[in-house]
Amino acid sequence: MKKYNNNDFRITDVDKEFTVYGWVNKLRNMGGVIFVDLRDKTGLLQVVFNKTSLESDFAEAENLKNEYCLKITGTIQKRAQANPNLATGEVEMLAKKLEILSPSAELPYNLYEDGKALENTTLKYRYLELRKDKYHRILESRAKIMKATRAYLDDNDFTEIETPILCKSTPEGARDYIVPSRVNKGSFYALPQSPQLFKQLLMVAGFERYYQIAKCFRDEDLRADRQPEFTQIDLEMSFVSEEDIMTMVEGLIKKIMQDVKGITVTDIPRMKYDDAMNYYGSDKPDTRFAMKLNDITEIMRKTAMNMFNTVIENNGVVKAIVVKNGADKYSRKDIDNLTETAKVFGAHGLAYLKYEDNTFTGSIAKNIEEEKLAKIKEELDIENNDLILIIADKLKTANVALGALRLNVAKNLNLIPKGLFNFLWVTDFPAFEWSDTEQRFMAMHHPFTMPKDEDIDKLLEDKAHVYSKAYDIVLNGYEVGGGSIRIHDQEVQRKMFEALELTEKQIKEKFGFFVEALKYGTPPHGGLALGLDRLVMLLNDTDNIKDVIAFPKTQSASCLMSEAPSEVTEDQLKDLGIKVVDNK
Ligand code: AMO
Repeated sequence: MKKYNNNDFRITDVDKEFTVYGWVNKLRNMGGVIFVDLRDKTGLLQVVFNKTSLESDFAEAENLKNEYCLKITGTIQKRAQANPNLATGEVEMLAKKLEILSPSAELPYNLYEDGKALENTTLKYRYLELRKDKYHRILESRAKIMKATRAYLDDNDFTEIETPILCKSTPEGARDYIVPSRVNKGSFYALPQSPQLFKQLLMVAGFERYYQIAKCFRDEDLRADRQPEFTQIDLEMSFVSEEDIMTMVEGLIKKIMQDVKGITVTDIPRMKYDDAMNYYGSDKPDTRFAMKLNDITEIMRKTAMNMFNTVIENNGVVKAIVVKNGADKYSRKDIDNLTETAKVFGAHGLAYLKYEDNTFTGSIAKNIEEEKLAKIKEELDIENNDLILIIADKLKTANVALGALRLNVAKNLNLIPKGLFNFLWVTDFPAFEWSDTEQRFMAMHHPFTMPKDEDIDKLLEDKAHVYSKAYDIVLNGYEVGGGSIRIHDQEVQRKMFEALELTEKQIKEKFGFFVEALKYGTPPHGGLALGLDRLVMLLNDTDNIKDVIAFPKTQSASCLMSEAPSEVTEDQLKDLGIKVVDNK
């Protein structure tokens, strides 16, 4: 068995003999002397081969290539010149015996130069890519987070319980991955989008505190922070309030940050959903920098600009962000690009003002009355060289589009401080969201989310103003978790279904077994799920979720290494009673 970590050798080991194992990370043949950086999972140790010390055939050492897997016995000696960049930099091993455990074929790409190979190549040879130190550190940190999680939840009396992977569809709202049943031809399982219904049933079953590090599957458009198959730290508690769950999860976050990063997190601030949208244009605000959204509707009422007047008359708003000291950094062309970004987020356009040499210039400066410009200057604290980006639109559109510009500008101008971990609770989510396509109100979370006590009476009459006992936890602008108190009261549940315009038949088909279970003395309960992958991502300073998953999928949800998904044989299809009609 391998006894030593290559990264552990120090000056105190000089003159002692050891046997080490690992891979050739770097090779220098100086003619008569060969230097190998031998890598194991912990790090690098320099090994020196020369003709006099090596008892095995020196020619074998001369034939070594990158990524050969070796066993070497030798003596640790002090290096003539230390390498301060390596933990083992003061020492090296003088090799006596060399055994090639396994040679390596020629590498399909250069493993030692980051960012040079195409991502698809690195994904095809993922097992080689994973040899890099970066991935070892990230996956170790992921394991530490899971360890801290289990320790904390165990200490707090939670029971770890597994729930099925072959399920009936859960109400998370994305498209399901479905699995055909051979025994019940024509029927399909859905892979769980989350263990939501099962964890609630565990509360009905009296477990009181459940958790699971759960695999979830969602067939949705993939982004840099989304994978089709991802992991949640999923928990549920009975006889609790929103406050109890948030306090429990806050304790978990503090423990993870302390154990994994050595960082003490103080109490996590809270922000209501409406404030998050109004001030940051996002339900997951990045609070590492300010640049808040300002409402300038009142100032802009009745200007000479018809565009603003029409929007305001139609109950729209005029909102603005101030890019401090940004006037000279944004040319007309740059602002055209920002306009395009705003349009992607639904805005009709983008107006701007620059304040330079004590004068306003920009697309609308000439059409706005002097006193209104003075008011803008005063209310928004405008100074020379400030840039003001303005959107007039429906409230939601103006918020979302300016929120996107806020992030775009902050990234572009490097306004986001490094090394900060800004956790934030976003609370008081609306229960419903208006869907333009469906022309009706839809549940913002799922239909089992408890409305705020004071809003239950509005469920049928005033859906736009019903808020729910739902909360998200946000880190540096990413949603890293979300949850809610669930409805345990039959009457409230009935009203909620009615509000969502679900017929008896639909309720029965979708969640019949679940609604049945809620009839038998359901305890008040609630919970939350943290996105483990996103948490690992943010704690390891990467914005690519693939970096934190050992074997991730591509943008088109395939695994380039194993070539999944793939076609199956005719026999397999026949067994399942399935015919593929169109595989384009
Ligand atoms: P929700 O859908 O908000 O809640 O998911 C919880 C957290 O999971 C992470 N997440 C993802 N991570 C990577 N790839 C994805 N495709 C992906 N989708 C979600 C996010 C998110 O905050 N059952 C509820 C929880 C509850 O109410 O208790 C749920 O699944 O970080």
